[in-house]
Amino acid sequence: NATPLANVFWKDKKLLITAGPTFEDLDPVRFLGNRSSGKMGFAIAEQAQKLGAQVTLIAGPVNLPTPQGVERIDVRSARQMFAAVQQCYAQNAIFISAAAVADFALAQSSEQKIKKQAGQEGLTLELVKNPDIVAWVAEQKPKPFVVGFAAETQNVIGYAQDKLQRKKLDMICANQVGENLGFESDENRLTLITAGVEKALTTSSKSQQAVELLDYIAEVIEAS
Ligand code: CTP
Ligand code: CA
Repeated sequence: NATPLANVFWKDKKLLITAGPTFEDLDPVRFLGNRSSGKMGFAIAEQAQKLGAQVTLIAGPVNLPTPQGVERIDVRSARQMFAAVQQCYAQNAIFISAAAVADFALAQSSEQKIKKQAGQEGLTLELVKNPDIVAWVAEQKPKPFVVGFAAETQNVIGYAQDKLQRKKLDMICANQVGENLGFESDENRLTLITAGVEKALTTSSKSQQAVELLDYIAEVIEAS
């Protein structure tokens, strides 16, 4: 259960969350995607709404029900997610970027299904970098309190600290993926990192991790 501080803090707070993967279309039948399930971002949305927050959830292509009382905006590509965030961020006090945004999109996507040629033995795709959504929000003035995620397979804390600084985030949630944790899993073990402080959570359900994250955001903002 959330702390008394979190209960007071989140009441009527406006919170924007991105969740899930983004898909980058090659043609009408194929895409580049990733293994994000969206469960962590959806769990945060659900728990924040239960604490009384006004939650907007920008969701990539996921197979999850909308948490009760949450306003949901569905998108597919990173560019669409960026456009939705640009529309919404200024109305929110806190932004949590839980989405696994594709780093690259196709340089051009084909309007018709791509056909292979007789004898074709390979295919080279040209990709172009997508905008960094969370870094963009962190550069705005005024800006919400910005929380990122870092899903890593190795050097988890080191890479997360690097992203915290490079993207000028207020907090980052470091996340070991693999070993039944992280992507597609119902459990998680986040380490919450701000400038100078690391708070390691113990492994638990994504709902429980969400509550502890929301507690900690309240604590950090109230102490600042
Ligand atoms: N992110 C984003 N827009 C992007 C890429 C990432 O908003 N185009 C956000 C993610 O939502 C997450 C944080 O940035 O909150 C870190 O994402 P991650 O993929 O770990 O960082 P990258 O900078 O893309 O680094 P990597 O090369 O490890 O993928
Ligand atoms: Ca990335």
